[in-house]
Amino acid sequence: MRDAPGMRDAPVAEEMSGRKAQHLDVCLDANRYHVETGSSRLNQVHLVHRALPECDLSEVNTEIPFLGTTVKLPFFISSMTGGSAEGYRTNKDLAEVAAELGIPVGMGSIRILTRKPEVIGDFQLKRFAPNVPVFANIGGVQLPNTQHQDIYRLMEQLAVDGIAVHLNPAQELFQPGGDTDFFGVLEATERFIAASPVPVIIKETGMGINPAEVRELLKRGAAAVDVAGAGGTNWVRVESYRLDDTAVAEEAGEFDNWGIPTALVLAALGRDVRNVWASGGIRSGMDIVNALALGADAVGLALPFVRAVRAGGVAAGVELGRRYEYVIRIAMTLTGSRTVEQLRAAPLYLDAALQADARSLAAVMGV
Ligand SMILES: Cc1cc2nc3c(=O)[nH]c(=O)nc-3n(C[C@H](O)[C@H](O)[C@H](O)COP(=O)(O)O)c2cc1C
Repeated sequence: MRDAPGMRDAPVAEEMSGRKAQHLDVCLDANRYHVETGSSRLNQVHLVHRALPECDLSEVNTEIPFLGTTVKLPFFISSMTGGSAEGYRTNKDLAEVAAELGIPVGMGSIRILTRKPEVIGDFQLKRFAPNVPVFANIGGVQLPNTQHQDIYRLMEQLAVDGIAVHLNPAQELFQPGGDTDFFGVLEATERFIAASPVPVIIKETGMGINPAEVRELLKRGAAAVDVAGAGGTNWVRVESYRLDDTAVAEEAGEFDNWGIPTALVLAALGRDVRNVWASGGIRSGMDIVNALALGADAVGLALPFVRAVRAGGVAAGVELGRRYEYVIRIAMTLTGSRTVEQLRAAPLYLDAALQADARSLAAVMGV
C-alpha cells in the first residue's frame, strides 16, 4: 500500500497556520470548491402542524441552558478558526455576531498556541463577546501525546467557558501530515475531561459520532456531545482540494457519502438522551427546529456563519441569525411550544426511510 497523505512529515507551526488559512480559502470560495456533500436528512423530520396552537407568538421563549448559563437562542456558532491574519479577523467578526445575538461561539483549534504562543490574540474572543459562552477547541487525536496541563493553562489564559475536543479521523487520514494512529484517544479524552477546569464538549467535524460512541462519551464525563454529522461541510473534500496528488484526490471523492447524517444519529439516539448537541449541515431555521425536535439540546452552525461574515461582515452574520430566530419562533408558535423544552417534546413523525434507518442503526450499535 502506498503511504496515506497523513504519513508525511508532522506539521510545524508555520505549516499549521498556512493550513488554517487554506481551509478558510477553500471553504469560502463556493464557485470553485464544492465542500458540502450528502444530506443531514433533517428534511425528513416533520413536526405536526397545529391549527389550534393555543400559543401567543409574543410569549414564545427561545432561551436554552448552555454550559451552566442561559443563552437567548437555541443555536451557536461552531468551532472554526484562528492562527492566521484572516483567522483573527474572522474570529473577531464571529464573536461580535455571537455577542449581538446572545448566542455561544466556538473557536478553531488552539493547538497552534503550543508552538506559536505569540498568536494568542487571535483566540481571545472573550474580549469581543464577554456576555456569551465562548469555547476553545483542541484535537482529540493530539490528547494522548500532549501535556494536558499546557492546554489547561491556555484555556485559563483565554478565559473560556468550555472546550470542544474534536474527533476527525477521516480528515486526518486525507490531510498531508495528518495523524494516522488513533489508538488511545478515548482514554486520553477521559483523562482530559477529568482534570479540566471547564466543561468539555466532544464533537466530530462532519462525519458524525455514532449513537454508541455518544453514550460512551457522556458516560466518560463529557458535558455535551455534538454529533456533528454528515450533510454539510465534508472535511475529506476540503483536504482533497489542498492535495497536489490527483489520485488521492479522486480516492477522497469516494468518501462523499461517508459518515452518519445528523438527523440519523439523533433519531437513533432518541429524545431521552440529554446533553446532545447537533451540528453538521444545519442550513436553515427549519433545520434548527427539526434538530431540536429530535432531541438536540443546542444546535451548531459553522459554514453558513463564516460565509456570511466574510461576505457582509458582522451585520450579515447578525442578519442570518435573526432570520433563523424568526423561523424558530414561528415554528414554536405553530406547534404550541412556548419553550424549547416543549418543542423537544412536540409530536413529530419521520419519513419512513429515516425511521427505518434509525431503527437499523440503533439495533446494529446495540443502543
Ligand atoms: C473554515 C472552517 C474551519 C474549521 N475549523 C475547525 C476546527 O479548528 N476545529 C473543529 O473542531 N472544527 C472545525 N471546523 C468544523 C466545524 O466546526 C463543523 O463541525 C463542520 O464544519 C460541520 O458543520 P457545518 O456543516 O455547519 O459547516 C471548521 C469548519 C470550517 C467551515
